[in-house]
Amino acid sequence: MNQRKTLQVNEKGHLQIGGADTLQLAKEFGTPLYVMDEQYIRDMCRVYRDAIEREYDGNGLVLYASKAFSCLAIYKIAAQEQVGVDVVSGGELYTALRAGFPAERIYMHGNNKQRSELVYAVESGVGTIVVDALSEIDMLDELCGERGRVQDVLIRVNPGVEAHTHHFIQTAKTDSKFGFSIADGTAEQTALYAAGKKNLRLAGYHCHIGSQIFEKQSFTLAVDKMLAFIAAMQEKHGLQTDVLNLGGGYGIWYTDEDAKISCEGYADYLRAVIAELKEKADAYGVKRPYLVIEPGRSIVGEAGITLYTVGAIKEIPGVKKYIAVDGGMFESPRYALYQAKYTPVLANRANEPAAETVTIAGKCCESGDIICANVRLPKAESGDLLAVLSTGAYNYSMASNYNRNLIPPVVLVKDGKADYIVKPQSYEDLVRNDVVPERLQ
Ligand code: LLP
Repeated sequence: MNQRKTLQVNEKGHLQIGGADTLQLAKEFGTPLYVMDEQYIRDMCRVYRDAIEREYDGNGLVLYASKAFSCLAIYKIAAQEQVGVDVVSGGELYTALRAGFPAERIYMHGNNKQRSELVYAVESGVGTIVVDALSEIDMLDELCGERGRVQDVLIRVNPGVEAHTHHFIQTAKTDSKFGFSIADGTAEQTALYAAGKKNLRLAGYHCHIGSQIFEKQSFTLAVDKMLAFIAAMQEKHGLQTDVLNLGGGYGIWYTDEDAKISCEGYADYLRAVIAELKEKADAYGVKRPYLVIEPGRSIVGEAGITLYTVGAIKEIPGVKKYIAVDGGMFESPRYALYQAKYTPVLANRANEPAAETVTIAGKCCESGDIICANVRLPKAESGDLLAVLSTGAYNYSMASNYNRNLIPPVVLVKDGKADYIVKPQSYEDLVRNDVVPERLQ
């Protein structure tokens, strides 16, 4: 299991999270239920913040990439932990601002930001907008001009490093909907274009090379490419910038196929990145940039689990045993989308050894509605409590009401105490925005 104190098995043999017995949580809040360990989230914010403090004299900022998990409470925690946040839509921005998050520490992303989103961001005083389209530069310049504001922007750059989990490749590939490629010259042109705009201040550059990455070298290679680009812009065009935002992407443990990274381990990633940054900045003769990173998954992923009640069990002799639970792809879409793997634990008999291989299915009307395929579990029975681990990132945030299932609530636990941070939906919520026109009455 996970290397922190987040998850433990108590004397009753029940799985505990953040000091709370999962059976008690299920009894109090029902299932399916997302549970998040507050301390884990805070610890991870501190790990990154401290590493920048220690290794880089605090010359940088950690942004929590809130697409991983967004609700009012998470922005409160981020604010208390003195990190910034990145948002990617008007909705995330609204949620952050509603939580009282300081606008100047918000970075806004998006490859196709809507005019209304840009107006909202500018009028709210969002610190930095990461621009990702020429039309966006024009639109932003114009609406800043109308409002008498000068907006800090970064250009999203595609550095030609593609990383996937345990591999990375160096590529001159320009086919991505994100960013302007260094290789084909569009990053250079776009930076010059933005720098020429009266109402924009080109603060620097951004890149994000992928997600769930374990390979340190893919991050250091991105540093190298970005610094070479910064140096070229300086030498060729006299264009000096301050900020280098390297995005997120640090991998987490989902199953034993993944490394278990300790707090120290995550600090090591930053140490390697910062060492490369210093070395290359000095070598290329550019000022050491203000470093921004945007981890999402690694801050909230292992903080979360999902609790389910085991329902129907179907054994197809010689083929497979299905254990169906009261959730499914509406709250756990990552298997259906990416064949993502997770580790299940029978939470009420957490010490029992695995006895069989099963597939955990959801309750949606779709064969692909699987939560974990071919996993080892003790012999489960209807009514057992099942926990799926490492579900804190990109589960709740990607949940839907498919089949008109209700999106489960989220509780936050700290020192054994649990509180809702997202309340349960009701059937009434499902029809709230439905309208029956007169002619159908
Ligand atoms: N910054 C940018 C610009 C990003 O696009 C992302 C993630 C992050 C930061 C945060 O990356 P992280 O540290 O969380 O890896 N839905 C997918 C993940 C999509 C990630 C998209 N961008 C999943 O469930 O695996």
